[in-house]
Amino acid sequence: MRSLRHGYTNATVGDGATVVKRYEGPRAVLRAEREYAALTTFSGRVPVPEVLDRSAGTLTLGFVAGTQGQELIDAGHGDRVLTACGEVLRKIHAAGCTHGDFGPQNTLLTPDTLRVTAVLDWEFSSLDRADPVVDLAWCEWIVRTHHPRRTSAIPALYAAYGTSFPWQERRAAMIRRCVELIDFTHEWDPDGAAEALWRERLDATSAWER
Ligand SMILES: Nc1ncnc2c1ncn2[C@@H]1O[C@H](COP(=O)(O)OP(=O)(O)O)[C@@H](O)[C@H]1O
Ligand SMILES: [Mg+2]
Repeated sequence: MRSLRHGYTNATVGDGATVVKRYEGPRAVLRAEREYAALTTFSGRVPVPEVLDRSAGTLTLGFVAGTQGQELIDAGHGDRVLTACGEVLRKIHAAGCTHGDFGPQNTLLTPDTLRVTAVLDWEFSSLDRADPVVDLAWCEWIVRTHHPRRTSAIPALYAAYGTSFPWQERRAAMIRRCVELIDFTHEWDPDGAAEALWRERLDATSAWER
């Protein structure tokens, strides 16, 4: 098994048939359980990997073919990736759930037709309530931060989703998420490099005018 690219939080390895995700950091066992609950809830309703095995703090998932959304945005397909993200997010929210780390970073798509093959990384999900601005704003934040030359694609996300939110509400949701990630990284490694990075990102996000 080799390390998979694009992992942000955990040790995720795969061999083209299965993927083993070993949760690291604060509340690893709880986060694994949360992802397991979401994957079983959404199986058959939204494209998600199959759960092959589970133990405390580890999930073994079926490998899903697809290209990560961020690569496709960088390749010039921002509008189509964010349209696909908006459409799949509407289904997730219709089922009453917040993904919690939604965006192209956690979406796999067919590289030719830009169809979503999997929504990944449900460890921060809430299955008991849909909070649309949380997921929409985070998807927007990922594009603004990691693809600053592709922000013209952001309206496609809201158009496909079917609702928008005022900028102040979106920025407030982005700020709340940065604060949560400061707390998370602080708990993991107090005053370490990851916490410093999230503090910088919070400052940058707070300064955005629109
Ligand atoms: N079931 C899967 N099939 C194919 N690739 C996967 C699968 N699960 C994860 N990956 C790849 O591994 C990366 C990291 O997985 P993810 O669940 O997002 O972990 P992290 O919490 O570390 O971000 C994903 O962005 C994706 O590229
Ligand atoms: Mg991820």
